[in-house]
Amino acid sequence: MKVLVVGGGGREHALIRKIKESNKVTEIACCPGNGGISYDAECYPVSATDIDGVVNLAKEIKADFVVVAPDDPLVAGMVDALNAEGFPTFGPKANAAIIEGSKVFSKNLMLKYNIPTAEYKVFDNADDAIAYVKEKNEFPTVVKADGLALGKGVIIPESFEEAEAGIKEIMQDKIFGESGNNIVVEEFLTGPEVSVLAFTDGKCVKPMVSSMDHKRALDGDKGLNTGGMGTVSPNPYYTEDVAAECMEKIFMPTIEAMNAEGRTFKGCLYFGLMITPKGPKVIEYNCRFGDPETQVVLPRLKTDIMDIFEAINNETLSDLDIEWSDDACACVVIASGGYPKSYPKGLEITGLENGQCDGVIVYHAGTALNDNKLVTAGGRVLGVTALGSNLQEALDKSYKAVEKINFENKHFRKDIGQRALKAGR
Ligand code: AMP
Ligand code: GLY
Repeated sequence: MKVLVVGGGGREHALIRKIKESNKVTEIACCPGNGGISYDAECYPVSATDIDGVVNLAKEIKADFVVVAPDDPLVAGMVDALNAEGFPTFGPKANAAIIEGSKVFSKNLMLKYNIPTAEYKVFDNADDAIAYVKEKNEFPTVVKADGLALGKGVIIPESFEEAEAGIKEIMQDKIFGESGNNIVVEEFLTGPEVSVLAFTDGKCVKPMVSSMDHKRALDGDKGLNTGGMGTVSPNPYYTEDVAAECMEKIFMPTIEAMNAEGRTFKGCLYFGLMITPKGPKVIEYNCRFGDPETQVVLPRLKTDIMDIFEAINNETLSDLDIEWSDDACACVVIASGGYPKSYPKGLEITGLENGQCDGVIVYHAGTALNDNKLVTAGGRVLGVTALGSNLQEALDKSYKAVEKINFENKHFRKDIGQRALKAGR
């Protein structure tokens, strides 16, 4: 099989490394890919959001299967376009990807089908939203832009003034464009967060092993929100009891709700959960693999991933037994100094051989090849990932490699996994 993967970050690299292990796969292509991915796949310079470009590429290279990994092309209907041309795919159609594409949709879905989530109200203009926040007078509160916003569409104001300014930025200044035409204002929940990615063919749902993200830029969960500075799997807060409750109250009800709405979801559904004192609640849905969650989940997958993708495409997932290793996995992200604000690009990376480093798997998020030299090309540059018989061992291996990999002004968190280690004790 020749498999085309759409996207070009650490998540896509993790998918490609796993697809490479499949006995069925002879060739892997990626668009646009990146410097590090080009060691594992043939990269083509087609943007991941260019639907016509990707369909044409799939035809040109005669792809047997296409995996669409990022949110924007899924929400925009890339899978629909590929299916219309007869390509088997992994990823939801646009009418199901809306579960991530519109927070108003997903909140209304949860309310209608009784799926536990934070209480909320939807607004289509700033004045009403501001009046509501003022009257409610409970802080922190949570304000979310309806549409996709590069992971930055959520603000958690600590005061009325902050809330007012944030709502105006989103709804009047349109800092996220049309994504801010509507907003959700919701109750602030507390408790540990768990990420659960789940395979579903619309008939059954098979959760993957759990993981924990570290979203803030600095140690101690300080600093700005980022796309994710590191992950660990498993997540100790996701106990067997919690898992059972999630399956009963959240996972299956969501699959059934989407079917009832005529929006069958096929692909990877990401549940961002908070384990509140009143039980697990949904913080957000994503219509795709998480980044950098995928980087710690897929290394633990023992089943051939193409068997899973084909079973989902053929709606026979219930017949397949998916196996996971008992190892722990840790991913430490090395980012460019300055990220998530501005940062330089094109800095030479040392300490890697053919993009890799002994004892770990290095997933490339933002690298490029410049005269055969690897250079930085993004905010998050590398995800240094290791398996171990326990989390401490996995973390030790990752951090040992992180010390060996260098570029000017590299930035990484030194406390990835510490929250999980404390909770696990
Ligand atoms: P998101 O961009 O949707 O992943 O949200 C970013 C982060 O905001 C989440 O990971 C949570 O830490 C936080 N968050 C979102 N909604 C809530 C909520 N209702 N209560 C508390 N924290 C929240
Ligand atoms: N790591 C969070 C996300 O992929 O949205």
